[in-house]
Amino acid sequence: MSVPLDYPALPKVDLHRHLEGSLRLETMLDIARAHQITIPANIVHLSNLVQVQNGEPFTYQNFLAKFATLRMFYRSPEVIHRVTMEAVEDAARDNVRYLELRFTPVALSRAERFPLAEVTDWVCEAARQAGKKHGVIVHLIASVNRHESVELAEQVAWTAADHLDHGLVGLDLAGNEAEFPAAPFLGIFREARQAGLQATVHAGEWGEPANIRQAIEEFGVRRIGHGVRVLEDEYTTALARERGVVFEVCVTSNYQSGVVDSLGAHPLPKMLNAGLNITLNTDDPSISQITLSDEYRQACEHLGLSPEALKYRILAAAQAGFLKDGERSRLTAQLRKELKI
Ligand code: ADE
Ligand code: ZN
Repeated sequence: MSVPLDYPALPKVDLHRHLEGSLRLETMLDIARAHQITIPANIVHLSNLVQVQNGEPFTYQNFLAKFATLRMFYRSPEVIHRVTMEAVEDAARDNVRYLELRFTPVALSRAERFPLAEVTDWVCEAARQAGKKHGVIVHLIASVNRHESVELAEQVAWTAADHLDHGLVGLDLAGNEAEFPAAPFLGIFREARQAGLQATVHAGEWGEPANIRQAIEEFGVRRIGHGVRVLEDEYTTALARERGVVFEVCVTSNYQSGVVDSLGAHPLPKMLNAGLNITLNTDDPSISQITLSDEYRQACEHLGLSPEALKYRILAAAQAGFLKDGERSRLTAQLRKELKI
């Protein structure tokens, strides 16, 4: 019989975590007090607004609505610095060694009309400081929302390209996949990749598997945000398998946003059986009230992932990271040593 894993003690890799979904409740209350933001004055009421609650509809609309409230908090450079530092600190506490933290410059700039370039500077600098302080490699990804304008996305992509030497490594297409197509953003992603940015696209989460095929064939990505509806289409499943596409799976988020009806019904085991390259990630740990340890536990104790298979998924995430070759080999060597694989 295999010994149960000590999940918090495992060294971890998170490829898919949104800064805006990582804010601490206490910090939100502090910010609200300091900036006279009128929100419910206690933690329980605030939690109802910004975190998914049992008894709420588990739908993508309800999930996305949390971000609308969260946008009120980004009131100063100090706030943005603080929430970025804390997001990295929380990851470090969970023994995350390599964190790809994605952030949405448009969301952070909105309340005070901060210039996108400044907001991006602040996040890069805070991530650099926090990574150093806590011994975590932090790489940043700029997210654009498909339900927002293409013009804004273009500005974000250019700003991101200007920050390539400051820890920012990629561009992500996020947002409301159920109602908004990816096609208008194709040109931006092509140019971004030519400028040296890596790319990942949320696809096959709230939308059909055709979106995954489009992300692979047209956007040219090697990594898909979620992609958990892939098995609905044989061609796309074979394509993803043959190309070794990496799926950034976020089990609890998928449950809370209505992708699957129960945690036990998550397609993760079937995706693995189909030979797909799966990684485990958090998405929005504060909104979902989870850690990456929780997600690892969920996968092992409710979805039948063996401890050995989990360790190889952690290694797979490191191998799929948007890292330079030297960084990747150091990270994977360290993980192999600690994970004993
Ligand atoms: N932004 C934050 N979380 C997201 C998700 N799960 N899907 C799409 N966009 C998001
Ligand atoms: Zn996401």
